[in-house]
Amino acid sequence: MKTITLASGDAIPAIGLGTWKIPPREACDVVQTAIETGYRHIDCARIYENEASIGRGFEFCLRRGVVGRESLWVTSKLWNDSHRRQDVRPALEQSLLDLRLDWLDLYLIHWPVAHRRGVLHAEQASDYEPLESVPLAETWLAMRECQKAGLCRNIGVSNFSRAAIEELISTTGIVPSVNQVEMHPYLQQSALLEYCHGQGIAVTAYSPLGSRDRPDDMKSANEPSLLRDPIIERHSRALGITPAALLIAWGVQRRTIVIPKSTDPHRLRENLAAADIKIPDNVMQELAGLDRSHRFVDGKFWEIEGGPYTADSIWGE
Ligand code: A2P
Repeated sequence: MKTITLASGDAIPAIGLGTWKIPPREACDVVQTAIETGYRHIDCARIYENEASIGRGFEFCLRRGVVGRESLWVTSKLWNDSHRRQDVRPALEQSLLDLRLDWLDLYLIHWPVAHRRGVLHAEQASDYEPLESVPLAETWLAMRECQKAGLCRNIGVSNFSRAAIEELISTTGIVPSVNQVEMHPYLQQSALLEYCHGQGIAVTAYSPLGSRDRPDDMKSANEPSLLRDPIIERHSRALGITPAALLIAWGVQRRTIVIPKSTDPHRLRENLAAADIKIPDNVMQELAGLDRSHRFVDGKFWEIEGGPYTADSIWGE
């Protein structure tokens, strides 16, 4: 199993199971199947609303000795409604309770966006807190306290631009261990990747297959399809692998951690095996030419008239 070593010295498996969009009624079985298939890294979040089901899968596997807790990497994420200092630890403890775990391997600030307490989904501008009133540094220092208390071994961020990371480091002196962002050949983010690696920050690539199964209101008309891209199809055929395997191997070869989601046992196995595929340099070069700065998770859903957030301000563009 390929791993990436974090600044703490902890080794995170380079391929994890993404659990966004796995319905709660299936999540327990999918996680069980994934662990039995050899997955040792499960990427979760409170807002995916399936942590309680995933927790049953963990308990089943840990009790039966399918895997030991030390050999399993579990990430979860702090939702936007719990950014205030006093709300961070209770949110983490709720995830631990649902996941039936004593600690997390990694806890991330899910988005650089703050909601009013108790608001899961912002529907009007007043559902937000501007970052001036709940600064990310406040949230970050509370995450650090959780780490010191042993509730999570590593702390990191998600959907953070270089500017947001720089501000976090300059105000707190604490470097995130991971930044989890959307990343695939249509959104290569090479500058952000280089910056993070230069700072010793590992990068996790979410939506590596283009997240075709995300909700319709998050999709744009005529969006491109990674899995049906003619260049990706041509190279995968030549290498005797599937487009999905090529996309995952591409991410691993760029030294990123990749978290494809699947609920299908066959695809789960195929996705995990992609870590061992070597893509020839000339193919990597051709895939570099596919970059078109296309976000499938474009952040526009944070834009509410009169609200403090825009997609451009989040992505630092
Ligand atoms: P399924 O869950 O039925 O396997 P992403 O990881 O970018 O969010 O993409 C997830 C989407 O890609 C889901 O629709 C998932 O469907 C599909 N998917 C996952 N693995 C594969 C694969 N190996 N081949 C084709 N589609 C896949």
